[in-house]
Amino acid sequence: METWDAIRSRRNVRQYEERPIPDGDLERIIEAGWRSPSASNRQHRDFVVVTERDRLGELSRVWQGAGHVAGSAATVVVVYPVSNDEHQQALDAFDQGQAVMQMMITAADLGVGSCHSAVGDQELLRSLLGYPESHASDMMVSFGYPADGPLRPVRQPNRRSMAEVVHRGHW
Ligand SMILES: Cc1cc2nc3c(=O)[nH]c(=O)nc-3n(C[C@H](O)[C@H](O)[C@H](O)COP(=O)(O)O)c2cc1C
Repeated sequence: METWDAIRSRRNVRQYEERPIPDGDLERIIEAGWRSPSASNRQHRDFVVVTERDRLGELSRVWQGAGHVAGSAATVVVVYPVSNDEHQQALDAFDQGQAVMQMMITAADLGVGSCHSAVGDQELLRSLLGYPESHASDMMVSFGYPADGPLRPVRQPNRRSMAEVVHRGHW
């Protein structure tokens, strides 16, 4: 897929086919996250990749909006070291978002759908994945082939108009 088509085709997919993502494609998606930039190249994000059906079901219990994780072929949990510094926290959150988006666009390029999920129950997630107290997670991303057919460019994205959002030269 062309990059522009991958960008236009990415949408949140919440129902997936049963079939797995080939290992090479899943590795590429994860590598895309690994390659993403970060403030001062601090790389304050680790990725926990889960593909086992039972584990995916358990992960889906950490947030009310995580139901799509249970039926995914793979879910990547983005884990970061907790900081008490608000500025650093903001930069780290931005960097995690960049990694997530880079994985999602790479997935779309491969015909793989994706969906964000927030994290509600921090302790449950930590106990499931075993990362240390010094770390936390605010975001999981599920991946799989869309149950409603292949990804195609979204004609009319549900967005505020560009005229309203884009300010040219001044507000
Ligand atoms: C930070 C963030 C958190 C989100 N959390 C969830 C979530 O918990 N569950 C879910 O189903 N979708 C979640 N989404 C997906 C958004 O609802 C979705 O991106 C938005 O409705 C736009 O839809 P689209 O991505 O299909 O264009 C989240 C998106 C972002 C950026």
